[in-house]
Amino acid sequence: MKTGGDGTDTCAGRTSLRVVSVVGARPQFVKAAALSPAMRRAGIDETLVHTGQHYDWEMSATFFEGLSIPAPDVYLGVGSAPHGAQTGRILEGLEHVLEENAPDAVVVYGDTNSTLAGALAGAKMQIPVVHVEAGLRSFDRRMPEEVNRVVTDHVSSLLFAPTATAVRNLAKEGLTRGVVRTGDVMYNVAVAMTPAVEAATSEVLERFCLRARSYAFVTVHRAENTNDAQRWRSILSGLAQVAASGLAVVWPAHPRASALLEEARPSGVRIERALPYLETQCLLGAARVVLTDSGGLQKEAAFRGVPCVTLRDATEWVELLDAGLNTLVGADPEAIVRAASEARWPSAGLPPALFGDGRTSSAIAEAISANLLMAREHTHGAGW
Ligand code: UD1
Repeated sequence: MKTGGDGTDTCAGRTSLRVVSVVGARPQFVKAAALSPAMRRAGIDETLVHTGQHYDWEMSATFFEGLSIPAPDVYLGVGSAPHGAQTGRILEGLEHVLEENAPDAVVVYGDTNSTLAGALAGAKMQIPVVHVEAGLRSFDRRMPEEVNRVVTDHVSSLLFAPTATAVRNLAKEGLTRGVVRTGDVMYNVAVAMTPAVEAATSEVLERFCLRARSYAFVTVHRAENTNDAQRWRSILSGLAQVAASGLAVVWPAHPRASALLEEARPSGVRIERALPYLETQCLLGAARVVLTDSGGLQKEAAFRGVPCVTLRDATEWVELLDAGLNTLVGADPEAIVRAASEARWPSAGLPPALFGDGRTSSAIAEAISANLLMAREHTHGAGW
């Protein structure tokens, strides 16, 4: 059992609020970098659980170091496995953690298998679930992330929706109770890291022998692209044609993509190892265009004023399409080449306040604290 700051048993008659937060994959480390310190500042006692979904140094440790995230209190070490096995292992591990800690709430981020397992573990044990980045929908259930989002939202008690569209999506599914629009935590981190990114960019460009605005920055790793041989080949062909058109193409590859690229590499495309947060931001911020299937990178390109081309058939970040900051091209090689050459940053830029004011994590932490205190007063137990 975890004890309070004064060393007393904080379970019975305790005063300090306690949450278990669950992270496991790269984008969640970034989000925790903003919310963990904010929760601590708000007086919430956090037990940070790393599921071990991402475990390689460049996929995990480098984010904890680079973003000064406190070391996890619990490491489940589940590693890679098919969806059911991976989710099941996390669920089993979390059950023990929740039993031992008896928190006021479980905090989960985004849409990964770690999110889903955290939400199910909390809901099954009647511990309120807090979903950060709720209400996102691509409306494509072939994406494992979409299933994870929908299920997580429906078992959550407090849903932090980053945008007005996310709030509307939830309302259409009958979810209005506990929904709070707060802005985006990744934007929060991007704003906080901007001075460091600006200071490091020229050194990082030099190290990679790149000139600003002379290259495309690429990441492709999502299951709908990697697990479909035809789509994968089609994307590689598009990227090779972009390189052949004279625009350098730099691709820091996720391990799943790296394994596939061992078999066949797109000609002219420069493949690098997966990068830490700071280097990623420097290289994407100085790129002419970002080509990606990542949800996080679509936003980060917009935060850094770089046009994005999304290699998917649907995106959950529809506001970026509406604002002309992002173009959806699927896996069609011709569409990839055309969009990469035509991509321009529109003069209107990022709509003001679309992703909040850059202080979202404090707003979320305060809302968690207020709701947990209210729940203690009114229910002494599960549900809000
Ligand atoms: C997960 C998320 C995805 C998110 C991505 C961020 C789900 C369903 N998907 O996808 O939404 O965009 O994280 O990066 O949760 N691997 C390693 N080393 C690692 C991690 C993974 O080698 O440290 C390899 C393994 O071969 C593994 C594969 O990558 O089988 C996929 O990893 P997994 O955790 O299943 O999902 P991601 O593709 O990373």
